[in-house]
Amino acid sequence: MESYYPEEVSRRSRFARQAGVPLSFDSKGTGVSLECGVSVRMFLSFSDVEISEARFVSNGCGWAVAAADVIAECVSGAALKDLHALEGLERRVLSELGEVPAGRRQCIRIGLEALRKALADRRASIAEEWSGEKALICTCFGISEETIEDLSAAGTAATVEDVGRLCGAGTGCGSCQMLIREIVES
Ligand code: FES
Repeated sequence: MESYYPEEVSRRSRFARQAGVPLSFDSKGTGVSLECGVSVRMFLSFSDVEISEARFVSNGCGWAVAAADVIAECVSGAALKDLHALEGLERRVLSELGEVPAGRRQCIRIGLEALRKALADRRASIAEEWSGEKALICTCFGISEETIEDLSAAGTAATVEDVGRLCGAGTGCGSCQMLIREIVES
């Protein structure tokens, strides 16, 4: 019987290796499409500054499930510094799944949104535990405002990229890059 989905999407949606709720996890996030009601919930487990495992559940169509499986597979075992603000992850999904019709791109973004929210959930719990005196700027790597100011004052960090190279800040989820830019440019 001919599948409704392209081969790789069909295979991944039926045998998604990363599907299922883990027994324990450190953070979670949900992406939802208001257009079709599909949701993806992503669960992340961390080992220091590495995502040891990502798993997901979804009520979605084959596209959403296959994309979430690729995303979870890509970030499982990845060091935060290698996430590069999630740039390129959507491209990676597209290259794994083959040609994705324009109307199905939103199915892929549900998984990406779930991942972003799971990373935000992790940042929120780290920020809650932060006891440093100066503001915590990069929660992925526990880098304070003071550290970035020191790097900037020493003349070793003039850009967001310099800061990332020197201490990792900004190279994980990327959500702190705007704050780092403000500090190095001020
Ligand atoms: S908070 Fe994630 S890279 Fe800085």
